Amino acid sequence: MRALLDAARDRIVEHVTSLPAQPAADVEGAAELARELLEQEAPETGIPFSEILDLLFERAIPKSFNTASPGYLAYIPGGGVLSSAVADLIAGATNRYVGVWQAAPALVQLETNVIRWLCDLAGLPAGSGGYLATGGSLASFTAVVAARRDKLPPDFLKGTFYVSDQTHLAVTKAASLAGFPLENVRSIPSDERFRIRVDLLAERIASDRASGFNPFFICGNAGTTNTGAVDDLGALADLAAREGLWFHVDAAYGGFFLLTERGRTTMAGIDRADSVVLDPHKGLFLPYGTGALLVRDAESLRRAHAAGADYLPHMQEDPGFIDYCEISPELSRANRGLRVWLPLKLHGLAAFRRNLDEKLDLTLHATRELKAIPGVEIVAEPQLSVVAFRLVRPGLDLEEQNRLNRALIERVNARKRIHISGTLLDGAFVLRICVLSFRTHLERLDQGLDDIRAAVAES
Ligand SMILES: Cc1ncc(COP(=O)(O)O)c(C=O)c1O
Repeated sequence: MRALLDAARDRIVEHVTSLPAQPAADVEGAAELARELLEQEAPETGIPFSEILDLLFERAIPKSFNTASPGYLAYIPGGGVLSSAVADLIAGATNRYVGVWQAAPALVQLETNVIRWLCDLAGLPAGSGGYLATGGSLASFTAVVAARRDKLPPDFLKGTFYVSDQTHLAVTKAASLAGFPLENVRSIPSDERFRIRVDLLAERIASDRASGFNPFFICGNAGTTNTGAVDDLGALADLAAREGLWFHVDAAYGGFFLLTERGRTTMAGIDRADSVVLDPHKGLFLPYGTGALLVRDAESLRRAHAAGADYLPHMQEDPGFIDYCEISPELSRANRGLRVWLPLKLHGLAAFRRNLDEKLDLTLHATRELKAIPGVEIVAEPQLSVVAFRLVRPGLDLEEQNRLNRALIERVNARKRIHISGTLLDGAFVLRICVLSFRTHLERLDQGLDDIRAAVAES
């Protein structure tokens, strides 16, 4: 055991300490490598651990988007806090069962504590609750199932959802998985800051009611993936209350900025939500595999998920003692609480708050520097830690402009010090920088800005 752990530890430490020197992404030859590995037979006998570590650390891991790198500014980074990985190792090695309270009361309590801390962060009242899911997508699915159970009759196909044209696909997918036709998800246009048009939303709800539909679910965005836009959550809460709809907030990306004063101001109104999705594997920098669903009324999750069986132990009556199998989709489940609880206990909230504040500052810094590059236009000013921009050359039509910007992103990424991604906003291809890794600091961002300047000069 010691030899196994020591060998793995040495490789991990070497890998993590060399992250700043590694490319921000490198997938040249990765497809060929994947094909080579795909063609392997299931092994009848084992091979030495050192060979396995070589395969992982020398071949497979380097050929990927380096999502743990300080230069990773694409999509939504997170980083992968090492203490959380250590928590996973402990959880896996001890392999305790946290699907039912009775099997490991104290470990279940740690997850419950995490949920309580997150509910407090979102400003949800006593009686709120939730669970740790594998990510924002599964958490969104559970939110939809709980809302459907509470707001609609068993024959629910007239139920309609309201999202903005910027809402993450996870919400539409959740509606589809929960059995709704995709057409029941109404995409409401957003304004020039990519925030949902609440006036158009109200009109659509009224017209749907008049046509015999059953509006039941509004999704507000607390940090869109495209631009980090935050909807007017207070106005959405008012509308949802007036209309008797379930008010869901997708804060998968933005939610942990609630730890900062600026984030709390931007996301005012989130405390009025019926459900909130937060992704610790984004804003708490944890390794992939942890999302959180919080609900205003913890009992709504129980109503949607409880199903007994004779072979299970007796479930708890005390509302403080949670049987997670009764309020979430899984029965056997990873001891996910530990990977959130341990880093929070070890580092304290202040460390995360400082880091998130720094990310907000870095994004403002990047925006100022981008504005100073001739020809660069800021398409979306940061509301949290995303800035979207593009290069504009006179005389080009939209398609040519888009080609120019697609080529620009490739030029930037080819330097491999930063890795950024693009998106379409009103048909225009834009580049976006999302600063969210705890490893990203000013020095790397400035190197990336140098690379953008150089790439623009070559365009
Ligand atoms: C705003 C938003 N919502 C939901 C999701 C889906 O979360 P996950 O990838 O954890 O399933 C994402 C993922 O990037 C996101 O950015």
